[in-house]
Amino acid sequence: MTVTFLGCGYLGLTYAAVFAAAGIKTYAVELNPDRLNPLKQGKAFFFEEGLEELISVGLKNGKLIPTDSYKDSIPNSDVVFSSVGTPDNPDGSPNLDYIYAAANEAAKYMSPKTIFVQKSTVPVGTGSKIITLFDDNDSKAIYMSSPEFLAESTSVRDVLYYDRLVIGGTDKKGTDAILKLHETVDNQRDQIAKIAGIKPVKRLDERVFVSIKSAELIKAAANSFLALKISFANSIAKLADASGADIVEVMDGVGIDQRIGRAFLNAGRGYGGGCFPKDVSGLIHSASDYGVDLSIMEAAQELNESMPGYIANRIKQILGGLKGKKIAVLGLSFKAGTSDVRQSPGIKIANLLDIAGSSVSVYDPHANGEAKKDLRSGIKIGQSALEAADDANAVIIATAWPEFRDLDFSQLKQTMLGTLIYDADNALDKDQVKKEGFVFSAPGRSA
Ligand code: UGA
Repeated sequence: MTVTFLGCGYLGLTYAAVFAAAGIKTYAVELNPDRLNPLKQGKAFFFEEGLEELISVGLKNGKLIPTDSYKDSIPNSDVVFSSVGTPDNPDGSPNLDYIYAAANEAAKYMSPKTIFVQKSTVPVGTGSKIITLFDDNDSKAIYMSSPEFLAESTSVRDVLYYDRLVIGGTDKKGTDAILKLHETVDNQRDQIAKIAGIKPVKRLDERVFVSIKSAELIKAAANSFLALKISFANSIAKLADASGADIVEVMDGVGIDQRIGRAFLNAGRGYGGGCFPKDVSGLIHSASDYGVDLSIMEAAQELNESMPGYIANRIKQILGGLKGKKIAVLGLSFKAGTSDVRQSPGIKIANLLDIAGSSVSVYDPHANGEAKKDLRSGIKIGQSALEAADDANAVIIATAWPEFRDLDFSQLKQTMLGTLIYDADNALDKDQVKKEGFVFSAPGRSA
């Protein structure tokens, strides 16, 4: 089988690289030259563990074919995956321009035998509109939905080892093709993981066969539920701060209950990235289009948006003001393990402190470059954690990269002017930090 991925962003590129490494002939279609040109040279436009190793295998074995041409790729493909971006509109509703542009353009080159699989996150009901589009066009391609659950920083691992493969749509040929492609990868997953330098993990490997609309809503609901868990943990963190409880102890205790689970109950500076903020507002808008009120998600969103300001305010209270204080923000990517800075809480905190009159320096091991355009002009970008922390009154760990957990705290103490460490991602060993003579604080751990 030959496949095409339309859009080689965080999702499409990871998939294309894994499929090609499994020996599947894979066209990687990307229209943005800033992404396509590095790919042709074996480079990903973002940092992700194991990805470039797989790209290099695919380019060497000739199975990965980067191109900007629909015409050269689609007519030769049995399956076309749509993995284009879905940015949000200023009002928070999902912008589906790329989704429809990709479907329209692909329709010119597909035949009724082509299987078109939607992998991007789209509002429930989008598939029906694209089916109408294909039917109105000569292509009459088979439309399937197979949403994706990979998370950045573990995306290669998540493509290889997964809990569920959701297949939306009843077409037998479409279903069989998706199953066969995944079987091809699954049969070689340990070898591919080895090339990528990733440890094999055990997952459920469930297959979930549903309607297209259910598949679309499974994805939107799964992301929104995870976001809801985080916002719930953050609201309890505020209560822990006010009452003197410790949020890590609380969520450890809560999460032991298997009905609840500990995952995604890490309180901190709130969720960022290209998915949760957009998917939560997307779900709210899509529900409202159907006349359904999702105020539960509006509350989750509002709570999340309050976190950077809440943290700036906590630091203000501890330092007795922000004006004139030197503060280092460590961690600018939206989570550790990626260079992606979309909706990054670290950047939001740094900008808020700068606005409040602090002298702000920042550092991230992989995201300094990508963060630059989003940081206010007065913010200094350091080349190491210690450089950023030089003479600082406070250090905020906004994204807990391993190198920040493993900081030489006694050296940090000598470098800093003050003694406050604010662990905004709740990742440090509180006792160890305190033992070094620091004042430790964190969302939900200020007691
Ligand atoms: C998320 C989902 O986890 C994936 O399953 C999904 O496929 C993906 O969105 C997508 O729709 O493409 P991602 O955004 O890459 O993946 O990363 P997550 O690990 O989910 O983290 C999202 C944000 O939540 C990060 O800012 C992270 O720091 C934050 N987070 C996560 C918390 O604040 N607390 C937690 O307990 C967990």
